[in-house]
Amino acid sequence: MIYTEDNLKHLPSRNRASLINNCCGIRSANLIGTVDTKLQENLAVFNSVMHLGSDPALIGFILRPLTVKRHTYDNIHQTKFFSINQIPRDLYTEAHQTSAKYKKNESEFETCAIEKEYFENYTVPFVKKSKIKIACRYESEYNIKENGCVMIIGKIQMIAVDDSGISEDLWINHEKLNSIGIGGLDTYYTVKCIDRLTYAQTHQDSKSIYGAQKTTS
Ligand SMILES: Cc1cc2nc3c(=O)[nH]c(=O)nc-3n(C[C@H](O)[C@H](O)[C@H](O)COP(=O)(O)O)c2cc1C
Repeated sequence: MIYTEDNLKHLPSRNRASLINNCCGIRSANLIGTVDTKLQENLAVFNSVMHLGSDPALIGFILRPLTVKRHTYDNIHQTKFFSINQIPRDLYTEAHQTSAKYKKNESEFETCAIEKEYFENYTVPFVKKSKIKIACRYESEYNIKENGCVMIIGKIQMIAVDDSGISEDLWINHEKLNSIGIGGLDTYYTVKCIDRLTYAQTHQDSKSIYGAQKTTS
């Protein structure tokens, strides 16, 4: 099937959204936790969290246009911090439920039965079951003028990775951590590690380093 720019314009909006949301592939699955200045908690599922460079260590995510109240956005503006929590396989239905439009005074930790965890020195709530938890401080944001979406940029303050899925060279094995991926806005996938390869160089082929690591880590 081939869809041109013109075809896309004439598709029913739900079908178009599904196609566009899915066509760039499986994306990361995270819950973003925040609080407002009164420490009212909020938690929401996001599929747009992305690596933005390691030095300084930055993470970004995309927020839909601010045409309606966005609790995650408002809270980040109030308190400057947010947590990013990888969604493990056994939490995907509860995580999905956080996308419902709960009221400001309702915490998705309670409404969606997701256990929370707090770390010393961080005001934001984390998802207890997540095997990768990241604390971020708000740095800046960029308006995407073409469609009104906003890219939020945070600086990593802390990363907590479950011991079961990280090796001595700090390689994270998402298969071992039961990480999942998201297709579009409604489909959840498990992940399987195919291989891990050595750094690619022009004068020699990359080699597999996964086999050895599989048995040692
Ligand atoms: C699978 C999935 C992925 C989502 N990813 C995003 C996203 O990347 N950006 C966004 O603004 N909303 C995303 N949403 C929608 C938010 O989860 C939803 O708007 C939520 O109610 C926001 O909560 P808040 O107002 O408490 O911040 C996603 C929803 C689902 C189901």
